[in-house]
Amino acid sequence: MKKILINFAHPAKRRSKINAALRDAIADLDGVTVNDLYSQYPDFHIDVQREQCLCENHDVIVFQHPFYWYSTPAILKEWQDLVLEHGWAYGSAGKALEGKLVFQALTAGGDASTYQPQGFNEFTIAELTSPYRATAKLCNMHWLPPFAVMGVHRELADEKVQANAEDYRRLMMAIRDDRFDVSQAAQSPLLNHQLDNLIRRP
Ligand SMILES: Cc1cc2nc3c(=O)[nH]c(=O)nc-3n(C[C@H](O)[C@H](O)[C@H](O)COP(=O)(O)O)c2cc1C
Repeated sequence: MKKILINFAHPAKRRSKINAALRDAIADLDGVTVNDLYSQYPDFHIDVQREQCLCENHDVIVFQHPFYWYSTPAILKEWQDLVLEHGWAYGSAGKALEGKLVFQALTAGGDASTYQPQGFNEFTIAELTSPYRATAKLCNMHWLPPFAVMGVHRELADEKVQANAEDYRRLMMAIRDDRFDVSQAAQSPLLNHQLDNLIRRP
């Protein structure tokens, strides 16, 4: 069984609809640890040793967050700057993250059509999240494309929230239980693009 760490970053949880629902859908799963960064570090004083220990004790690292300014909430940048130390995460002696799976679970106000060369936002989600991909490569991790819930600007229908929360739970269970086709998933634009094709039955 794989152990999954969710580094959860939402600065205004009480106003969150979709991230709260995604998180609630997986929080009770065996093998899944939710690490709520804004609750843990309201002053941004990140405990590097605690964070490195958590990473070392899990096989899969997920960064779950709303898409803010085509990127992440600020604490995730601080987390990267402090936790991904030379000699631990990268460099000739930095092997702590080697071989671990990593991906983002993000929610974006803009819908999928806006994240196209001809769309309102011009750049694709793959382009905008490429720093995470480059970081994964530097740290010798197995990068996967994001699980992305798009078009959450307008009042998000409860059915859509529920369907995405169920997909997120199915994804986590499949990864945890080694029923997820990682190499096919790596070729997919988004992890939740054709989830049924990526998950093997128990
Ligand atoms: C500070 C801020 C910046 C945002 N930047 C973007 C953005 O760059 N692209 C986008 O599609 N949505 C953007 N949004 C919309 C959020 O992604 C959206 O509100 C969030 O995913 C909803 O998730 P929640 O219900 O968990 O809060 C932004 C929202 C805020 C508050």
